[in-house]
Parts: sequence; structure tokens; C-alpha cells
Amino acid sequence: MPNEKLNQLLEKKASLKLGGGEKGIQKQYESGKFTARERIEYLLDEGSFVEIDSFVEHRSVNFGMEKTKAPGEGVITGYGTIDGRLIYIFAQDFTVIGGSLGEMHAAKIVKAQQMALKVGAPLIGINDSGGARIQEGVDALKGYGDIFYNNTIASGVIPQISVILGPCAGGAVYSPALTDFIFMVENTSKMFITGPQVIKTVTGEDVSAEQLGGAMTHNKISGVAQFYDKTEEECFAKIRHLLSFLPQNNLETAPAFQSNDDLNRIDEKLNDIVPASPNKAYNIKDVIVSISDNGEFLEYQPYYAENMVTGFARINGKSVGVVANQPNKLAGCLDINGSDKGAHFIRTCDAFNIPLLTLMDTPGFLPGTGQEYGGIIRHGAKMLYAYSEATVPKVTVITRKAYGGSYIAMCSKHLGADVVLGWPTAEIAVMGPSGAANIIFRKEIAAAEDENAKRQEKIQEYSDTVANPYIAAARGYLDDVIEPSQTRKRVISAFEMLSGKREARPAKKHGNIPL
Ligand code: HXC
Repeated sequence: MPNEKLNQLLEKKASLKLGGGEKGIQKQYESGKFTARERIEYLLDEGSFVEIDSFVEHRSVNFGMEKTKAPGEGVITGYGTIDGRLIYIFAQDFTVIGGSLGEMHAAKIVKAQQMALKVGAPLIGINDSGGARIQEGVDALKGYGDIFYNNTIASGVIPQISVILGPCAGGAVYSPALTDFIFMVENTSKMFITGPQVIKTVTGEDVSAEQLGGAMTHNKISGVAQFYDKTEEECFAKIRHLLSFLPQNNLETAPAFQSNDDLNRIDEKLNDIVPASPNKAYNIKDVIVSISDNGEFLEYQPYYAENMVTGFARINGKSVGVVANQPNKLAGCLDINGSDKGAHFIRTCDAFNIPLLTLMDTPGFLPGTGQEYGGIIRHGAKMLYAYSEATVPKVTVITRKAYGGSYIAMCSKHLGADVVLGWPTAEIAVMGPSGAANIIFRKEIAAAEDENAKRQEKIQEYSDTVANPYIAAARGYLDDVIEPSQTRKRVISAFEMLSGKREARPAKKHGNIPL
């Protein structure tokens, strides 16, 4: 080959590698951000990235755009590996016209989406963009529409991960919102439909960009994001960790690892973890880490609806999704946000063949006008729907309270749990003993000489008669009542037994989960 042709190629590639140029790169560093190319390098296995479409160019001629060069069209796309497993990736390049999205920028992303879907590999999108390229008008909007459409088609087929590492404004937030997981980094990530200036003009509210749509706002208040980190490096490490729990696509199972944690490990401290007083709390995460291999637990939405704990653990080396009530937050009640969080997580696990472990200790749905007016009926129903719909192996452990509708909702036998185990402290009843005694023995208590003593006596009577695991076990709603210290061993045995589980649902276009 003539040297000049080769040199021309090498020069073109070298120039494309610089994106928007040194000045833009410097600005990126000054904002505390890595460049798009560096982000891909940090995230993927060393040397594994293969870029595609680097020569793509825009074809806009509006507002002098025909003279504007946009190397790579402001987005780097391609494939590579993470821990040796194929992934597709795109990273918007803010140094090129602010990473703004025009027709051809969108076309590159859509190609990556479609290829990822075709080969059944996860897709990671790194978002750092001023949004729709204003000069391109409807062509840019069309581009977003195409991306949303492909996000939806890929939903439940391949894991889709969005990483927000810059501004993400206007309708641009909806592609991440359609994906399975959103990662955000303090001070770097911003997501909002309308920015602070527009809000100031329309409503008069004064709010900073970080307060409005920063990483903690969406991790703690809105529940839009699932993962929060302080630095980009920590965020990349967490993405790799998350992928280790996920399969490549809905037809595969997550990778299994050799567990070096004793499968028969007994944890005596679980025998004493539930306090004698029903009004005292404990930390359900102590139970989760006791059951999981080496205490590994990657929490999903740790800052949002903390009354519902969700996350990924490994049990005998295999991925399991854990859903648990947290007695030390809102007493473990189910509320609107907890139900949304739990239901979304359950569906994510079911879509990707990840078995579900549920730990139940809940006194019920949270009472109050705030909850009722906010639609707890509609939101709580999502839990019932998500568990009933899930066909992955489902194992439930009832540690203490299992009252009323929340007993049913937290993956009871009646919603299709395959194995339900109760601790001796489990109390399965329509409501807590004190509430129940006050209703059914109201007249007797009122007529007593010492009302308080009578009330206590009746509470005890109700508790002894109904609020224990043995009535449910007598009906077969609990498969066994176990010593808490043996929980890990029993949960492992249940999931091993269920590893060949096959369950079908009637064919339908799609269900109609209450939204
Ligand atoms: C074209 C854009 C752009 C955009 C930024 N740039 N956003 N060009 N279209 N949407 C350009 C800037 O003109 C600038 O070009 C370069 O990118 C870097 O931007 P700066 O403003 O210098 O950067 P910074 O100060 O860091 O501010 C970043 C920003 C700001 C906050 C994102 O650029 C901004 O407010 N942009 C507009 C955001 C927006 O309203 N987007 C439309 C959202 S509506 P030069 O040549 O000066 O370097 C939307 C609809 C989608 O997206 C609907 C989908 C359904």
C-alpha cells in the first residue's frame, strides 16, 4: 500500500482521537471530568475497546454548521470487554459541540443499541451532553425518539446501564430513564427536564443545578438513579461490580463463581438478632450479609426508601436479588416509594433470571393521608404484581412481623414463593397483637376493673394464639420453621433445589402493571 494512503488514515485517526481539541479537553479536566475516551478506557478491560463509526459526520447546513467540524459526531461508540465479557458502549464527548445530539450522533448510538441487542450483550451509555443539537431542530428530536424506541425494544432483553457524567437536560433524561440502572457522580452529574433558569422564570423558585438534579437528589429524593459515587473511578468500579451479578441477556444466567465461604456456615448471632420487644428494631442488613457469601452485598438504591432494602448478593457463588424490609426505617412498613423501589428491582431480577430472596419483617402498609392521596393502593399493587409475575426461584424468610396485606405482598406462598421459611419469632397475623386485641376484645377491656391489665392479658392471648409461625406452618404456608442461625444453609439448599425450576405464564401481549 502506498505510504501516503496509510499516513492519511493514521492522520485522520489521530485527529479524531483528539475530539474537540486540546482546549475542550482542558475545560473537561477543569470541570473535574475525564474525557469520553478516558472513561471508556477506565471502564473496559485494558486494550479491549474497538471503536466503530469514528468517521461519521453530521450533514447539517443550518446556521453555518456546514463549516463546523464535529470529530466523531460528539459520541464515541464501539464494543469491548469487562472481565472478559462482551459489552457495547457509547460515551458522549462534551468537547465536541458540547456533546450535543444531532441526527448522526443519534444514528451512532442507535447502531450500538441495535448491535448490542443483536449479539445479546449489555449496553453502557455514558451521558455528557448539552442535549438536542439546537441547530439541527427536528432531526435532533427524531434522533432522541429513535434512541427511546430502541431502549424500549431492548428493555428486558439486554441489561442497559446509563452513566450520567455531565449535564443531561430536557428530554435527554428519558433515555437513561428507560434503562435498567442509572449511575451518578457527585458534582459531575446533572439530570433535569427544565434547568434552574427556566424554573426561576416560571415558578420563581431559586435552586442550584446540584440541588435540582445532582447525584444525591436523584439517589435520595426522586429515586430516578440507583447508584451514587463521589468520583468517576469509584463509579466505574461499581459498574464492573454490578455487571458481575448480571447475565449478558435474558436467555442466559448470571456468571457463577466458586464460593470459598462455607455453605454450612452457622451464625449463632442470628438467634438473638430479633429483639424481645416488638417495638425494637434491628438492622436487616446484618441478616443479609450473614446469609450471603463472604458478606458481599451490592445495594441498589441505598439512599432511597430505606425502609425497603434491595440489592445483589451471591449465594453459593450465584447471583441472587435480595428484597428486605428494614425494621429500623419506618418500622419496615411498605410505603409508596418502597413499593416502587421493590417492584422495579423484582422485575429487573426476573427479567434477567436472577432468583429472589425476600426477608420479611413488616407491620403493614404505612398509614396516613399522604400515602392514601399519593396512591399507595396503586403503588403497593406493584409489589403484588411484580412478585406474582416473577417466575425465577423465589425464597422467602419471615424473621418477625408479617401482618396483613404486607405479609401477602412480601412474597408469601400465596404470590408464588417456592420456599417459605419462618424463624420462631415470626408472627403471621392480620395485624399486630396490640391493634388486634384492642378491636376484638374492646368490650371486654372496657368492662374490666383494671383496663390496662386486661388489655395486656388479651394482647398476650392474641399473640399466643395467632401471632406465631405455627398456624401458617400447619397450613403449609411455611415450609418449615428454622433456627435463625441456620438460615444461610437452608437458603442455599432451597436455591440449589430450585435451580431447575421452570414456570410458565399464559401467553399475552403484555401484562398491565399498575403504574
Ligand atoms: C448545540 C450546544 C448545545 C446544544 C451546548 N452546546 N449545548 N450546541 N446544541 N444543545 C455548545 C455550546 O454552544 C458551546 O459551544 C459548547 O457546546 C460547550 O458549551 P458551554 O455552554 O460552553 O459549556 P458549559 O458552560 O459547561 O455549559 C453546558 C450546558 C450549556 C449547561 C449544557 O451548554 C447549555 O445550557 N446548553 C443548552 C442546553 C439545552 O437547553 N439543551 C436543549 C435541551 S432540550 P462553543 O462553540 O461555544 O464551544 C432537549 C430536547 C430533547 O434536549 C428532547 C428529546 C425528546
